[in-house]
Amino acid sequence: MRMTSLRGEALFEVEEYRVRRVSEQDIPLLRNLGERCREHIELHYGSPPDPEHLIRELLTDLPPGKVLADKFGMGLFDRSGRLVGGIDIIRDYPEPREWYLGLFVLDPKSRNHGLGAKLLVALEHWLRGEGAAYLRLAASEHNEAGRRFWTRHGFETVRQVIAEFGNKQSLFHVMRRALEG
Ligand SMILES: CC(C)(COP(=O)(O)OP(=O)(O)OC[C@H]1O[C@@H](n2cnc3c(N)ncnc32)[C@H](O)[C@@H]1OP(=O)(O)O)[C@@H](O)C(=O)NCCC(=O)NCCS
Repeated sequence: MRMTSLRGEALFEVEEYRVRRVSEQDIPLLRNLGERCREHIELHYGSPPDPEHLIRELLTDLPPGKVLADKFGMGLFDRSGRLVGGIDIIRDYPEPREWYLGLFVLDPKSRNHGLGAKLLVALEHWLRGEGAAYLRLAASEHNEAGRRFWTRHGFETVRQVIAEFGNKQSLFHVMRRALEG
C-alpha cells in the first residue's frame, strides 16, 4: 500500500516493518543502531568506528549540488518501534530520474534471512511511485557480501572509483540498475 511521504508517517511497509523518514528526534535510536553496526562503519570509515557517521549519513550528508529536500534518510522500524535498519537515498542524483542509494544497512541480527531482499523490493516499488527510473549505489571493494547482494538483485558495475571516507581509502564499485515496471 502506498502511503503519504510526510515526515513521521510511513513511506512504505515491509511485512510487519514500517519505513519512515528519520529526524533529529530519532538521534538516540540512530546512535544505538550505529553502535550495533560498528563493523559496517569501520569497513567504510576505518578505525576506530564512530557511530555518529550513521547519524550524519541519515540526517545531513549530501552529495554536491543537492539540498536536504532531495534527501530521504529513512528508518526501518519493527512493531515495537525498534530501529532495525537505515536507508539513505538521494533524489535525481547524479541524473534526473536516477536515485542514489547512499546507505542500506540492517542490524546484524536481522541479516541473512531475506529481509534485505524484501526491503529492496519494497524500496524499488516506492521509488517507481516517486518517478525514479534507475537506482545507483557504490559498494566498497571490502564489502564482498554487499556486492554479492547487489549482483544477485541485478545491479551491474558501471565504473570503479577510489574514494576516501574518514581515514580509509577504498575502491568502490559504482553499480546501477533500471527499475522495472
Ligand atoms: C546488505 C544487507 C542489507 C543485505 O540484507 P540481508 O537481509 O542480509 O540480505 P539477504 O538475507 O537477502 O541476503 C544475505 C545472505 O543471506 C542469505 N539468505 C537469505 N535468506 C536466507 C535464509 N532464509 N536462510 C539462509 N540464508 C539466507 C542469502 O543467500 C545471502 O547469502 P550470501 O551472503 O552468501 O550471498 C545486509 O546484509 C547488511 O545490512 N549488511 C551490512 C551493510 C551493507 O553491507 N550494506 C550494503 C552496502 S553496499
